[in-house]
Amino acid sequence: MLRLPGLIDPHVHMREPGATHKEDWGTGTRAALAGGFTLVLAMPNTSPPVTDAATLEMALERAAASAHCDYAHFLGGGAENTTVAASLAPRCAGLKLYLDQTYGPLRLENMLLWKEHLQRWPKDWPVAAHAEGRSLAAVILVAALVGRPVHLCHVSTREEILIIRAAKEHGLPVTCEVTPHHLFLSTEDLPRLPGGRGEVRPRLASPADRQALWDNLEVIDCFASDHAPHTLAEKDSSNPPPGFPGLETSLPLLLTAVSEGRLGMEDVIARCVTNPRRIFRLPEQPDTWVEVDPDTRYEIRAEAMFSRCSWTPFEGMPVRGRVRRVVLRGQEAFRDGVVSAVPGWGRNVRAV
Ligand code: DOR
Ligand code: ZN
Ligand code: ZN
Repeated sequence: MLRLPGLIDPHVHMREPGATHKEDWGTGTRAALAGGFTLVLAMPNTSPPVTDAATLEMALERAAASAHCDYAHFLGGGAENTTVAASLAPRCAGLKLYLDQTYGPLRLENMLLWKEHLQRWPKDWPVAAHAEGRSLAAVILVAALVGRPVHLCHVSTREEILIIRAAKEHGLPVTCEVTPHHLFLSTEDLPRLPGGRGEVRPRLASPADRQALWDNLEVIDCFASDHAPHTLAEKDSSNPPPGFPGLETSLPLLLTAVSEGRLGMEDVIARCVTNPRRIFRLPEQPDTWVEVDPDTRYEIRAEAMFSRCSWTPFEGMPVRGRVRRVVLRGQEAFRDGVVSAVPGWGRNVRAV
């Protein structure tokens, strides 16, 4: 049995309030524990989106009542909330800027709005951006102009990772994350994921893009699931929403890569614990760990999962390594497929 620190997932979509038929704070944080995550950062593209004190309060109330693992919540940058957002910073995981079209209404078109948010938000508090392709280069520039760090979400292409490498080599304070689906899937998997099942933003990229992520592992600061649950009925509909669930498959996929020698265990711990803790200024979780059986082999099955969305793009994939037990702040929270932490055991690590 291997003992790991409690993992941090800095990018999850909990869907509560507004879409609890996809996921809620109970199902989502049970999925987190089953996946070895003891701390998750929730995204603000809920319904309503979290953009002010009232919507933040609404989301945090749901989380406080239901969460089985620790958490913090992002605030979404909007066209009208640059001042209010900054005033709420201490209570938030960070500020999330949506700079390209994706799921939900939060999108900032005008680069002057990006600049205003990046200027007003406290310089020492995290800002994460959904920025693809040229938007990624643009937000790196705007952050540099106002002299602040920025974290780039779910980097997926060779172009993006090499621009980030160049920015880092230039000394700019940029950090980034990559999802397991962009590390382990590519456009070659789309025939297996027909119609809306393969829809995700950023899209699955070419095998060459995927390889470029592996070739530039030292540029990748964090692994983040971008757990984005939608039901199969929605994925198979004529207007499928983009997104893949990921909380329960991230660690098994990464452990499989470790068993194949493609990653070191220390690479995983740096990107799932140490780096996200530093970048997002998260507290250590005392008496918290994950026990993993690194040798068990099995196939990924949605039916074994806690996420309400009941499907996975990794269905049937052979993996090696299983989460056996999770202890969170001295309390057994998960053991052999059973979540024992009660709803509400999870704490808001940004509680003030
Ligand atoms: O595929 C995605 N789904 N990308 C995003 O940026 C948002 C997410 C969601 O919330 O469903
Ligand atoms: Zn995104
Ligand atoms: Zn996301």
